[in-house]
Amino acid sequence: MKRLVFNLVILLFVVLTAHSQGGMWLPNEISGKIEKEMKSFGLKLKAEKIYSEKNNSIKDAIVQFGRGCTGEIISDKGLLITNHHCGYGAIQRLSTVENNLFEKGYWAESYEKELPGKGLTVTFVEKIEDITDRVLNGAMEGMSNSALQSLVDKNIDRIKKETKTDPFQVLEISPFYNGNKYYLFYKKIYKDIRLAGTAPESIGKFGADTDNWVWPRHNADFALFRIYADKDNNPADYSPHNKPFIPKHSLPVSIAEKKEGDFTMVFGFPGRTSEYLPAVAVDMIANKIDPAITDIRGIALSIMDRYMREDAATKLKYASKYAGIANFWKKWIGESQGINQSGAVSKKREYEEEFINRIKTNPDKQIKYGDIISKMERLYEEFTPYSIAENMIDETFASNIDLMTIMSVSARLKSVFENNGEKAFNEFKSRLLPFVQNKYSEYNHDIDKEIFAALIKNYLNKSEEKFIPESIGGLKTDKEIEDFTDKIYSTAFSSFDNFKKVIDSTDSKWILSVFDKDAAFNFAMEINSLSDDKVAPYYNELKVQIDSLQKIYMKAQMEVFPEKKYFPDANSTLRITYGQINGYSPRDAVYYKPFTYVEGVMEKYKPGDYEFDLPAKYLEMMEKKDFGPYADKTGSVPVCFIGTNHTTGGNSGSPALDARGNFIGINFDRVWEGTMSDLYYDPKICRNIMADSRYILYLIEQFSGSKRLINEMKIVGK
Ligand code: ARG
Ligand code: GLU
Repeated sequence: MKRLVFNLVILLFVVLTAHSQGGMWLPNEISGKIEKEMKSFGLKLKAEKIYSEKNNSIKDAIVQFGRGCTGEIISDKGLLITNHHCGYGAIQRLSTVENNLFEKGYWAESYEKELPGKGLTVTFVEKIEDITDRVLNGAMEGMSNSALQSLVDKNIDRIKKETKTDPFQVLEISPFYNGNKYYLFYKKIYKDIRLAGTAPESIGKFGADTDNWVWPRHNADFALFRIYADKDNNPADYSPHNKPFIPKHSLPVSIAEKKEGDFTMVFGFPGRTSEYLPAVAVDMIANKIDPAITDIRGIALSIMDRYMREDAATKLKYASKYAGIANFWKKWIGESQGINQSGAVSKKREYEEEFINRIKTNPDKQIKYGDIISKMERLYEEFTPYSIAENMIDETFASNIDLMTIMSVSARLKSVFENNGEKAFNEFKSRLLPFVQNKYSEYNHDIDKEIFAALIKNYLNKSEEKFIPESIGGLKTDKEIEDFTDKIYSTAFSSFDNFKKVIDSTDSKWILSVFDKDAAFNFAMEINSLSDDKVAPYYNELKVQIDSLQKIYMKAQMEVFPEKKYFPDANSTLRITYGQINGYSPRDAVYYKPFTYVEGVMEKYKPGDYEFDLPAKYLEMMEKKDFGPYADKTGSVPVCFIGTNHTTGGNSGSPALDARGNFIGINFDRVWEGTMSDLYYDPKICRNIMADSRYILYLIEQFSGSKRLINEMKIVGK
């Protein structure tokens, strides 16, 4: 009887996991179960249309945009679309106060008017090769971590040297499945990238931080660039003689009807996921680390927000910093809630029990993996306090108090002088200055001071005794914290000018003496040594042990549950994920539909509110309602839609493709309830958010008033 129940449980499990959708797959490995599932979801293409080394395929239209985003080619003249928030830095650098492209938008009327974006790059993946055997050649069971690492490093060096490349090809080797597999990527990097068109921020970032990570959504998060190449279509630095790049493949843009249940796939460069961690790790992240970090950020953000609302200049100065801190603050709150709401930790625990049960009957696996879960639990128990401390210190002092960041980096001046002498000191000084200048350009002494006091109080309340620096250990009352804060903020380094006055001296001994006397500097030094002596050594040592055990656990899971699909965790390499257009129910009685419409933009419209204001021209368009071919059968234009594609940061700008590989939208976010998909993908509530191709075309055509860019696209579906 027992046996029967056991088998039934296994059977149930197999059935359940076989349908657990999710995953980000290497495009060269779409076959078997994956290809079958894609077809069952509605894919109408053969796998080699998606990725091929011999023939042109969809992958030839997908690029990594910069380092953290994706872009795709949508015309045979190298026109590229990515997110507005991915082009943000480039648009900022092309803007001046008088000619602010965030406010006005920009639409180039000709090739000549396309604006070179300094620092932009676009990377194509030409070929992907599994080179696991060569990288792990010589590895033996029982090898120490450091011996294995140096063997791997040596092999990688050799492989890179031995591999024949075409001119312009760059090689990259990345570990997959926690180091159980290695792949070699042949890439080509283009460097002359120009802005072809962008809507104003009020449209591209409509809803801003309030709507960020939230469904329903109403922004057109896109910008258009063009890749330029030399006369042979190869990468080249900017030159007026360069020509629009001719791609091997460009995506047709579809304006066909879409409906819930339609197949979608998202092709791009997802950054990082940790899908195969033990329950104990997910519990630590969701219930210890995320709350610690989000508390800190929440405190800093509310202080910044108050000052930003009081003063327009402060608002501008802090806008980008605020957006960056707020983006992940909001994401981690959602992640922690989602993990708890979906019961991810207990589901992982059940999975681990099943893992232990299965290997009980297999003596060989019992020896290899029998104690892996309990070992993980012990390691994480030891690791958790150090991980909390590491994150508390980093978030408090390195990320949210700028004076501490500046002082902590300046501390290296001292060690450079002591260890490497005057010349190295001067070199370091010149490298330090631009970094510091940049920091001070977004710095306000009073705001920083208030954040400092609030975060010190938080740190004292929440930290273990042994991680509290001596100089603040005795502070009991708010008054004492205030006095200490006054002392720190009487620093000689209250502005860039003041910093520069000191650092510009040619008398290095004097410079160091000013630092040595400075209260802020000394406190930063104290934090540095707290981190170096009491946290980092333990944190790092335990992390090495955890990582090497995770590598074994990864392999073990694949052996013990062979019926399950295993996609490699995201690591900024090219992946494809698939799903369907699908609404969701985040909580009892609530159901979110999968499409938003332009009427919804108008519902949110709030004149004068920087997040929800709209340009006059847009309002005119909404009066006219001349939607042309971009309306769907409801008569209105769809703005955004959601689907069950498993995406993460880095997928920003990725194309959403239909069953035949046409561009139907651009990925730019995930829904609040599903941001935990980096740790645990739950198909019930994890959704990615895409801006609809029809809204994008409608805006390009009617808002920009120029049909030039539309004319070069291949538009299908109507
Ligand atoms: N949450 C999206 C992504 O990580 C969009 C971020 C940009 N938009 C914003 N309102 N801050 O990264
Ligand atoms: N906005 C994210 C990015 O910049 C993508 C959304 C996500 O994390 O899924 O990559």
